[in-house]
Amino acid sequence: NKVVLAYSGGLDTSVILKWLEDVYNCEVVTFTADLGQGEEVEPAREKARSYGIKEIYIDDLKEEFVRDFVFPMFRANTIYEGEYLLGTSIARPLISKRLIEIANETGADAISHGATGKGNDQVRFELGAYALKPDVKIIAPWREWDLTSRDSLLAYAEKAGIAVEMKRGKKSPYSMDANLLHISYEGDILEDPWVEPEEDMWRWSVSPEAAPSEPTYIELEYKGGDIIAIDGQAMSPATVLAELNKIGGANGIGRADIVENRYVGMKARGCYETPGGTIMLKAHRAIESITLDREVTHLKDELMPRYASLIYNGYWWSPEREMLQTMINASQITVNGRIRLKLYKGNVIVVGRESASNSLFDENIATFEDDGGAYDQKDAEGFIKLNALRMRIAARKRS
Ligand code: ARG
Ligand code: SIN
Repeated sequence: NKVVLAYSGGLDTSVILKWLEDVYNCEVVTFTADLGQGEEVEPAREKARSYGIKEIYIDDLKEEFVRDFVFPMFRANTIYEGEYLLGTSIARPLISKRLIEIANETGADAISHGATGKGNDQVRFELGAYALKPDVKIIAPWREWDLTSRDSLLAYAEKAGIAVEMKRGKKSPYSMDANLLHISYEGDILEDPWVEPEEDMWRWSVSPEAAPSEPTYIELEYKGGDIIAIDGQAMSPATVLAELNKIGGANGIGRADIVENRYVGMKARGCYETPGGTIMLKAHRAIESITLDREVTHLKDELMPRYASLIYNGYWWSPEREMLQTMINASQITVNGRIRLKLYKGNVIVVGRESASNSLFDENIATFEDDGGAYDQKDAEGFIKLNALRMRIAARKRS
């Protein structure tokens, strides 16, 4: 028997690697993904090799991640509980998919991950895995072992011959997760929701106070609801997001400090930096504001919280998410054009929108000046009267 482990190369998943061999007596295949977390993935190969692993997978998934997961999610203007741009949530289904593909390629019957029994990530990994390989076995060491304290984990690492440098380094006190969409911080002092994080916790953005006092202007070009160019320069999806992270971070954009409802039932406090995503959300709404029909926009807005919960709760690979996605994608055919933004001290300000082929904005009709008969103001009289009819009937009853 063989198990594919989602392996970061860090201390925790290295302990898991050894523990799987010890306890399950199975062959371990490691899988490490580059999702744009900004850390080298190659060291994971060396480490896995040094632990005697024979099948080692290291994949660059950056383009696939943004093209097939992040962009489709942003077409819906997705945001969870009004605040969270789902940076971690949206990466999990891709990791599940690769774990299962690798299991199938290597003849493994099980997968394993380093998520705890208290969080959302276990649910996302495992719902995805079951949806793609119904009989897969899942090993979640954090739910099984008794290495509950840092000390017992370190003792196990020592015994298993896991590199000592790892335990000493000035490790961040936070539980973190990063990819091209965001970086997250949970735990440590953040466990008190009253306590403000130290400025030096934030890694991707300057504070709004420290941001330049001159605004930065950018222009985004949309095709089918996705950004295809920045300032007239065509870019791949992953390049677009990396570029927006850079510009946004430099202008203090995209920090969030929130208490969210986890699927398992608890409230958890988390801090997030999502500079590019924050820009994309605002800009996408702006391009839709001229290219989408009112009722289509409103219907999308009603369904969005459902779609956000599906992603947050781990149902990316569900039939209902796919159904919603089909609808969302269909709405984006006309979402083409350009958005001009001013970025200034944490703010994303839309200053221009244009769609040569798909704008529904009719200056002639909307104008406060003489429209030459394009819109007959007398039509409004009956429109209002009939809409008022039921309220007038009720008012007469009351008097
Ligand atoms: N609370 C966020 C979520 O549920 C972030 C989770 C971060 N995960 C992690 N393994 N550090 O999506
Ligand atoms: C974890 O518990 O492994 C991280 C947090 C989460 O999954 O919500």
